[in-house]
Amino acid sequence: MSNPSLLILAGDGIGPEVMGEVKRIINWFGEKRDLVIDVSEDLVGGAAYDAHGVPLHDDTMAKAQEADAVLLGAVGGPAYDDLDFSVKPERGLLRLRKEMDLFANLRPAQCFDALSDFSSLKTELVSGLDIMIVRELTSGVYFGEPRGIFEEGNERVGINTQRYTESEIERGARAAFELAMKRDKRLCSMEKANVMESGILWREVVTRVAADYPEVELSHMYADNGAMQLVRAPKQFDVIYTDNLFGDILSDCAAMLTGSLGMLPSASLGAPMENGRPKAMYEPVHGSAPDISGQGKANPCACVLSFAMALRYSFNEGTEADRLEAAVEKVLADGVRTGDLMQAGDSKPVSTSEMGDAILAALDASL
Ligand code: IPM
Ligand code: MG
Repeated sequence: MSNPSLLILAGDGIGPEVMGEVKRIINWFGEKRDLVIDVSEDLVGGAAYDAHGVPLHDDTMAKAQEADAVLLGAVGGPAYDDLDFSVKPERGLLRLRKEMDLFANLRPAQCFDALSDFSSLKTELVSGLDIMIVRELTSGVYFGEPRGIFEEGNERVGINTQRYTESEIERGARAAFELAMKRDKRLCSMEKANVMESGILWREVVTRVAADYPEVELSHMYADNGAMQLVRAPKQFDVIYTDNLFGDILSDCAAMLTGSLGMLPSASLGAPMENGRPKAMYEPVHGSAPDISGQGKANPCACVLSFAMALRYSFNEGTEADRLEAAVEKVLADGVRTGDLMQAGDSKPVSTSEMGDAILAALDASL
């Protein structure tokens, strides 16, 4: 069988820096585990805009469709704030999600033992936390029509449309149930069925799909209550399934429970391709962090862990994914900290590449 292929889109801000460490780790797997991945690279976001005047070139889109998986760094930055909406860096990311049809966005919020007192919540509320948010990623208000800013009488009106078909709700729900089956077998679906028809339909469809997963305990929650419960007692959740916009918000909320945005990976998965692998894009949850970009300060762990998700979900290398996740965990337990993970009394933070060095050393030690 040929080597799996990975398209790297490092993007903007700290994206290229953190990706540099991931590339070293990819090489390590090639050299030490005989797991050779064919890597190619291209531009996305502001970097693509600077080169081509668009945040994602058609050739790059085509390469993403061909690749076994895409690994994205981050997009955006103050230099692009005033660009026209249609060419903003974020549009590149949204185009990838939409055209690759990556409907299931997996956002784990996992609290590393070594970091459990980083949370703004009390340690006991978050220690051992392990939630998986499945966010529907290709529909809802992000893409619904009509949308735009229109003239209406003597003023303008801004319109976006929340729109969900049954099949869109269903395919995401199946992804969420499948994940729940591999975890604690509990799924909480979140919508606003009390005020939105799309929420009523959402609840109906998820309930219908549940019949195929009798082992999974399904519950429903209004998304506002879900936000409250996430900060009140987050460990009550195993898998959460929710729509695109609620998922955007709830996943930020869940991410911050762990206290360390620099640690969180994500996977966006679509339908299986001919080779059986799902269409997939992996990216850290953090953004381009312009305030620290170019200074070698960024924490590469979220991007490294996103690559671990690629090993698990795209390359069928669960054991190697475990190895990489354990290496990151060991490095944290040893007290290696980038600036975002510093607390009062800690000594000097390590640089992006020193964090990479430490992870590589832990990988060597795992052999
Ligand atoms: C996210 C981000 C994106 C979103 C932005 C950058 C378009 O906030 O991935 O959560 O809103 O989906
Ligand atoms: Mg977001």
